[in-house]
Formats: sequence, C-alpha cells, structure tokens
Amino acid sequence: MATYQRIVLAKPADGIPSADNFQLDEQEIPAIGDGEVLVRNFLASVDPGMRSILSGTDSYSAALKSGEVISSASIGVVEQSNNPKFNIGDVVNGAFGWSQYGLSNGRGLLKLTDTRLPYSCNIGILGIPGLTAFFGLERIAKLQDNETVLVTSAAGTVGATAGQLAKAKGCHVTGIAGSDEKCAWLRDVCGFDEVINYKAVSDLDEAISNACPNGIDVLFDNVGTAMIDRVIPKMKMGGRIVVSGQVADYNKAPADRPGLKNTSFFISNRLRMEGLVVFDDFREFGRAKEDLTQRIVNGQLQYREEIIQGIENMPSAFIGLFTGESFGRRLVQIGELPA
Ligand SMILES: NC(=O)c1ccc[n+]([C@@H]2O[C@H](COP(=O)([O-])OP(=O)(O)OC[C@H]3O[C@@H](n4cnc5c(N)ncnc54)[C@H](OP(=O)(O)O)[C@@H]3O)[C@@H](O)[C@H]2O)c1
Repeated sequence: MATYQRIVLAKPADGIPSADNFQLDEQEIPAIGDGEVLVRNFLASVDPGMRSILSGTDSYSAALKSGEVISSASIGVVEQSNNPKFNIGDVVNGAFGWSQYGLSNGRGLLKLTDTRLPYSCNIGILGIPGLTAFFGLERIAKLQDNETVLVTSAAGTVGATAGQLAKAKGCHVTGIAGSDEKCAWLRDVCGFDEVINYKAVSDLDEAISNACPNGIDVLFDNVGTAMIDRVIPKMKMGGRIVVSGQVADYNKAPADRPGLKNTSFFISNRLRMEGLVVFDDFREFGRAKEDLTQRIVNGQLQYREEIIQGIENMPSAFIGLFTGESFGRRLVQIGELPA
C-alpha cells in the first residue's frame, strides 16, 4: 500500500501556535476518478494570514476543524490524469495545503508553463504575497509618482515587493523591519531610502519622523493596529493607509487587540484607510504577474526565499513567522522536485 504524509489541525490554537496544534499523519494514496488528476506536491507555503483559520472560529475564511489538512498554496506535479486538460508530468499550482498528495477535478489548478523563474516564485513573489503588494499600491493606495511611503514588516515578501514597486515610481520609501540584517538587505539590495530596525531604536516615533520629516503619503501596513495608530498623526493631507496584514494582532483574542485612538486625523487630514483581500483582483492577476516577472528578469525587483526541508518541519516553519525568525518568503519542500 503506497502512502503519503500530510499535516492536520490537532486542536485549535490559542495565542502563538505551538507544535501540539498540529499532527503529522499518514494516508493511503487515493485512486483517481473520472475527470480527476492526482498531484504529488513538492512545495507548500506558510503564511501569517493562515493563523485566522486555526482558531476554531470563522473569520473571513471558515475555520479549520480538528483533523482537517492545514490549507495553503502548493506546487506539484501531475502523477496520474483522467482529465484531458492535464498531462502526466505537468507542474501545477494548487491549494492542496500541507499534504504530499492531492486529488483534483482540475478546477483552480493552474498549469505552470512559464519557466523564466523558478517554480517556487509562483507561490512567492508571483503568488499571493507579490500580488498583495502590487494591488495594495495600485488599487488601494492609488500610489502617485514621488510620494513618501512607509512599509511595515518590510523584509517580508509583501513588504519588500511593495517598497521596491514604490521606489520604481520615484517614491521616497522607508521600511521597518526587526533586525539589522533585514534592514541592510532592504537598503543595500532592495534600494529602500531609509530603514528602521524597530527592535533596536529607543524611540520608534522619533525614528519614523526622522526618516519621513515631511510626513507620509502612504502607509502600507502589514503589522497591525498599534503600528497604524502610531503613524496616523504623521500622515500628510490626503494620505492613504493600506491595511494589508496584522501579524502583531493575529495571535491575540479580539478583546486584547489594540484600538485606534488617533482617528481625529482622518477628518483634519482627509485620510483614507482601506483593507485589501487580494482575491478581489483575481481577474487582473495575469497582468500583475507579467509585470512582476519582467521586473525580476530585468534585475529591477529583488526577492528572498527560505526553503525549509521536510513536511515534518511545516509547523515550526509557520511558528517562526511570528517570532521574527523568518526572512523573506518561507516555503517548505515536502517532496522531490520534478526532474
Ligand atoms: N490582505 C491580503 O489579501 C493579504 C494577502 C497576503 C498576505 N497578507 C498579509 O501581508 C502581511 C505580510 O505577509 P508576508 O507573507 O510578506 O509575511 P512577513 O511579512 O514575512 O511576515 C513574517 C514577519 O512578520 C514580522 N512580525 C512577526 N511578528 C511581529 C510582530 N509582533 N510585530 C511586528 N512584526 C512582526 C517578522 O518580521 P520582523 O523581523 O521584521 O519583525 C516576521 O519575519 C501578513 O500580515 C499577511 O497576513 C495580506
């Protein structure tokens, strides 16, 4: 009997997830039915936003139940096919989660035929994180040339991509990140104008004011409410706040999350704050992916990946997103790469 491994939710998480929220189990590789494909997955992602489905209560996505596979983006190779749209050997982008195998009727499976960049990019800078940066700036911030932009969790794929896209529009870009190594990469490799290690400065408010002495047009926030509240008084007239992610708040119960106090600035400075669900831009993904690919191929857009080995290491890879240990896009290789 041929088997494969997958990781399921053992029990809902309370606070920062720990190893006992997850369980590795073994399943029999299923037989395919009419119209189906069997995919052997070799890469799966860990994303901070997945935290919301692990709490046992529904948010904008339904909560996972104990025993269900942890959902995520994945890349795999078609091993068997009863579907005329897919051939054995096709490499596909799917959403099979933390699982070495998956069955699909083909809906939602994307065949990867563009080989200009490594497959991993399709669930990294060309996947949801890169697209979040792209549409957060274009649709939500409506970024203009030469504006002043502040990006938080800037060394993550969303933040680093947003900062570089803003630089390409001539903007003055400041990134906030949690280590000197991350700050050096943002400044020296990604071309950010100013960087702030929020764990090292004695006064973060002062550091932001020094980096953006004339105020901020766009805050691209990946961190959460306390960070937004701190920046609101520094926003220029007509400033925009992109609420992309809330990594500092995901592990807190709703009652423990900080609130916004500085809302009077929304009136006096005509500010706008808007959240983003990148799937709303689905129809435009092709255009954005081509734009990002060309920038990378031309050397104008940098990205960083950490590929961790072994499906058994998926929980620790995920938990490391909340400790500052991760640096760039975190993926896990859960099976052999195709030849
Ligand atoms: N709205 C959407 O449609 C959408 C789609 C995709 C992703 N997102 C969101 O975008 C954000 C960025 O995603 P990403 O994949 O690029 O992840 P990421 O920024 O790489 O997230 C991990 C990093 O977050 C930082 N962090 C962790 N805990 C923190 C805390 N308490 N305070 C401040 N920073 C903390 C750490 O970096 P430091 O060392 O710098 O602290 C860590 O390395 C996430 O919040 C994600 O949920 C939104």
